[in-house]
Amino acid sequence: MMPQTLHDIDVSGKKILLRVDFNVPLTPSHEIADDERIRSATSTIRYLLSKNASVVIISHLGRPSGHPVPEFSLAPCARRLSELLGREVTFIPNCIGDEVRKYTSKIEPGEVVLLENLRFHLGEEDPQHHPEFAKELSKLGEIYINDAFGTCHRKHASIFYLPSYFEESAMGFLVEREVLVLSNLLTQAEDPFVAIVGGSKVSSKIGILESLLERVSALFIGGAMAFTFLKVKGFQVGNSLVDENHLDQAKSLCKKAKSRNVALHLPEDFVIAPALKEGSETSEIDIELGIPSNRIGGDIGSKTIEKWKAALRGVRTVFWNGPLGVFELTPFRRGTLEIARQVAESGAMSIVGGGDSTAALKMLGLDQKITHLSTGGGATLEFIEHQNLPGLEALKQKESLF
Ligand code: 3PG
Repeated sequence: MMPQTLHDIDVSGKKILLRVDFNVPLTPSHEIADDERIRSATSTIRYLLSKNASVVIISHLGRPSGHPVPEFSLAPCARRLSELLGREVTFIPNCIGDEVRKYTSKIEPGEVVLLENLRFHLGEEDPQHHPEFAKELSKLGEIYINDAFGTCHRKHASIFYLPSYFEESAMGFLVEREVLVLSNLLTQAEDPFVAIVGGSKVSSKIGILESLLERVSALFIGGAMAFTFLKVKGFQVGNSLVDENHLDQAKSLCKKAKSRNVALHLPEDFVIAPALKEGSETSEIDIELGIPSNRIGGDIGSKTIEKWKAALRGVRTVFWNGPLGVFELTPFRRGTLEIARQVAESGAMSIVGGGDSTAALKMLGLDQKITHLSTGGGATLEFIEHQNLPGLEALKQKESLF
């Protein structure tokens, strides 16, 4: 059972406490590098304004660990939101306290306010030890709406504990759409359905890999995670990152893939270098020859790219999450870009999640060709694994969680 949607409740003239995910990527000079997450919240905000509601918006940005950190201020997001909405968005430099309560108690219908970063307070990420934080937040609105899909996997105060203080709560349009598309992915995807999963840690992806094995006909594993699988298969991986504590899990996943007849694609060659940094001198090596002990693998190689592109031709559904190499470094970016191009141009129904995969598509100007670009990274993976998330569960729960 899914939580209520915005259309199930009457928000007319009400004061709405809206949790969004404005955890946007920042440039080195702390400017907004990509405003997609702000844009994706605007349809909910516009709808609320069309109903003459007043909107008090809360969000986190970065990981400031419970203390104010100026570069993680949400002030630039308020300016951007104001430009996108074409109306004033008042920024308040705190999210709890007298000033906030005073301002929000007088907020007028049609007014939009963005409060400062929730994670400037310990109570957001550690609600068990600071239950007063969620309670304080609950005083700021009459109805709680969660449109922060990217954070719905966190049992944080504003996601998991806050809804229980409200008689009326619902998902925003962004969360509703994500839930719908991702739920349909597992049940209604057309075959052949394949998944491409990158990233570095086997431990954080093993659950999703196992769930995907139940459904896909082929699984492509890239990123540093591939080295753990290749080590299990007896290949020399040099200095490459191996998740030593999860070799057994990697082994059992290989066995499971075999028993379920799922084609498991691991990279056959790599771009290697003495170190993973900008300007590194790179070469390519076949994994059959082994990566030398003084070299580290940073990206999938040309042979793998061509083989994977060929294997992706003709598929009907693709789910992709995570970079295939060290995407943030120029010498190790090509594999992710090439596979991004193939996914976008495959004509398949494509669902892509995660910051780097999305960044690759945007770099190529191909993001519009993706059927669904999920705003979630970890949340998308957890939803596919469990078909539920703490943030969604909390919207259904009416008892206090403290
Ligand atoms: C994300 O970007 O995945 C979400 O905003 C959650 O951020 P977090 O990983 O810092 O909790």
